[in-house]
Amino acid sequence: MMSSYDIWADQVREKIRDKISWVSEKNKDKIPYTTDKDGNYDDRSDLEKVWNMDDGLNWWTNGFWGGVMWLLYHDTGDDRYAGIARTSEYKMERCFDTYYGLHHDVGFMFQPTAVADYRLTGNARSRKTALHAASLLAGRFNPAGDFIRAWNDVEGQDTKGWAIIDCMFNISLLYWASEETGDSRFRNIAMRHADTVMEHFIRPDGSVKHIVEFDHETGEEVRSYGGQGYKEGSSWTRGQGWAVYGFMISYIHTGKQEYLDIARKVADYCVASIPDNGIIPIDFRQPSEPAYEDSCGACVIAGGLLELAKTVPESEGSNYRRMAVKILKTIDESRADWSRNCDAIVQNCSGAYHDTLSHHITMTYADYFFIEAIYKICGTDFFVW
Ligand code: GLY
Repeated sequence: MMSSYDIWADQVREKIRDKISWVSEKNKDKIPYTTDKDGNYDDRSDLEKVWNMDDGLNWWTNGFWGGVMWLLYHDTGDDRYAGIARTSEYKMERCFDTYYGLHHDVGFMFQPTAVADYRLTGNARSRKTALHAASLLAGRFNPAGDFIRAWNDVEGQDTKGWAIIDCMFNISLLYWASEETGDSRFRNIAMRHADTVMEHFIRPDGSVKHIVEFDHETGEEVRSYGGQGYKEGSSWTRGQGWAVYGFMISYIHTGKQEYLDIARKVADYCVASIPDNGIIPIDFRQPSEPAYEDSCGACVIAGGLLELAKTVPESEGSNYRRMAVKILKTIDESRADWSRNCDAIVQNCSGAYHDTLSHHITMTYADYFFIEAIYKICGTDFFVW
C-alpha cells in the first residue's frame, strides 16, 4: 500500500516532469545557474571568463544543469534530455584546454554530466572526460596533511592549504574512477581526504566547519573560517548537508563504519537544529533576524537524510525520512515556483551569509537536489554520486 508520503511525492514528480519539459526546451543551449528578475535563466557557458573569473564555463555548479537532464532522462526515457545534457558536457570539456581556473569542483562539474552519461549510455568520450577530471582532482591532493586543495589563489589570497567541507561530494569522482579502472590510487586519496575531514572538520556536537586551513608544507592545522556561514565557529547549513550526504557517499563506496557514524552524528545535529516550520536558515547559528533562508541547503540535507534512512535500521531511519519529507514538503508548498513565470523551481536559496546579493535567489543545484530527493522517495532516482 502506498503511504501518504509516496502519494505526495508522486504528485510532485508529475509537477517536475511538466516544469522541466518546457524549461529544458527554452534553455537547451545554455548552462544556467540562476534566474534574473524576470525569471529567465542566465548562461554560464562563456569560455573567455575562465581566464580571469570563475563564473564562466568553469563555474562550479555547471554540472547540475546536465545532472537535472540526466535525472529526467532516467525517469522518463526521453532522449531529448540526454541531448541537452550532452551539449553542456561537451562545452565544459573545453575547460581542460584552458586548465587555469579549474578547481576541486571538477567533481561537481563532471560527475553529474560525464560520469552520468557514461553510466547511463556507455558514451566512451564521457568516460575519458571523467577520468581526465578525476586525475586533475587527484593531483590536488597534498600528502602533507592528507587533504585535497579546494580553490586556487584569488586576488593575492594564498589558499594552498585550504580544504572545504563541500569536497566530500567531489571525491565521489575518485571513488568512481577506482571502481571503473580497478586502480586503487583514486579511492585511497578519497579516503585519506575523508579521514582528514572526520578529524578536523566535525565538531564534538556534530556541527561542521566550512573551511579548514592547513600548513601546506607540514600539514598542521592552522585555523578554520566561517566561509559561507555566519562566522567562525558557526554552522553553515549547506555545509552540514555536504557533510551528512558526503559521508554517506563515502560509506556507500567503502563500507567504512566510521563514515556512517559521522553521517549519523551530523544528521542528528541537523535534525535537532531544524526549525519547527521546516524552513532552513543559511546558518543554524545565525541571529534570528534577519530571517535569511537557504532552500538549497535544505534540499542537500534532505538528500543526505534519505540516504541515511535507507542504511540504518528502520526504527531509526523512519525519523530521518520523516524530517526529509517535512523539509521537502515545506519547499513544495511554500518555496517552489511551479508556474511559467520562473525557469527555476526552488526559491529562496542563498550563496553565502555575508553576500546579500546572493540571498534568496534561485540556483540550478537546488533544483537538482530537490528533484533527486523527490525521486529517491518515488524510487525512481539514479544515484549519480
Ligand atoms: N560549494 C559551494 C556552495 O555550496 O555554495
